[in-house]
Amino acid sequence: MTRNTDNWTDVAAASKAALTEDIVGFIERHRDDPHAESLLITVLHKVQDHFGHLASEQLDAVAQLMQIPAAKVAGVASFYHYFRLVPRGKYIIRVCLGTACYVKGADRVAQRFKDELGIDFGETSKDGIFSLESSRCLGTCGLAPVIMIDEDVFSNVTPDQVPGILGNYMKKARQEATAAT
Ligand code: FES
Repeated sequence: MTRNTDNWTDVAAASKAALTEDIVGFIERHRDDPHAESLLITVLHKVQDHFGHLASEQLDAVAQLMQIPAAKVAGVASFYHYFRLVPRGKYIIRVCLGTACYVKGADRVAQRFKDELGIDFGETSKDGIFSLESSRCLGTCGLAPVIMIDEDVFSNVTPDQVPGILGNYMKKARQEATAAT
């Protein structure tokens, strides 16, 4: 948010515009609660559920409307691993690291994804195409090791299959980008 005025009305209006009516309503209903700050995590979850991640514009708006120092809001957002401060990629890769998958070599599959993409769990590739996440169980243990890319399930995955899998999705992303122009 650009703060070019100290006028609270303008600041509040800009902050509200950065969020949704539902989130603003929630904050306003709880603003006078004795421990309103304890609602910060709930509010940040609501923001992330709606926007997909916590951009600085939204963090700033939450800080203003909840009257909590911006540094504190940013600190909470970056402390908890389930909050994302950058947008998720076009495709979400979830590598199962549950017991059944782990004993079948899921850690090596995970490492290959990290190496190929140059990112760790919880990060997004520079081109914005892939986000990498881990999972405790994807519910198909008999097919271990298992990964999912969005809704697609891949079973009995080996590290050597990883470049091919990524290549197919990169091709798909390029085709979609071309079709959209
Ligand atoms: S442990 Fe991987 S699918 Fe269940």
